[in-house]
Amino acid sequence: MELSQDVLDRLLAESLRAREFSHAPYSKYRVGAAILDEQGRIHIGANMENASYPQGWCAEPSALTAMLMAGGKQAKAVLVTGPGPDLITPCGGCRQKLREFSVPYDLVVIVGDPSGIRGRWTLAELLPHSFGPSHLKF
Ligand code: THU
Repeated sequence: MELSQDVLDRLLAESLRAREFSHAPYSKYRVGAAILDEQGRIHIGANMENASYPQGWCAEPSALTAMLMAGGKQAKAVLVTGPGPDLITPCGGCRQKLREFSVPYDLVVIVGDPSGIRGRWTLAELLPHSFGPSHLKF
């Protein structure tokens, strides 16, 4: 999918803004996510950790929930930001959650850190041979 420089700039700014809302007192690993929906709108989310560690929640599903609550149906692009210097990529569970709300070969997954955008893939590259809604239409 073609993304204009303006949209990329806005996704990066919004993802970094979302990071500011991260609640990550345990890992200190603050993550932000900004999702572009099918209507061209951007929705944000951050990771939310918990004193009961396994109950923590990633940034991507937070942004997906924001999209759903605003009436968005499909994620066209997601830009995830972490602290760097290692490139953040969506964890396995997040890849599956993103898959639910995207045409898998359409969703663009972009990653970055405060220095800017650092990587870009399709969801199909990150989650090949994925299991999805069509499997349940048997
Ligand atoms: N995290 C995310 O928010 N998204 C990912 O895709 C990878 C990991 C969060 C979960 C936890 O709060 C912190 O990063 C460290 O694992």
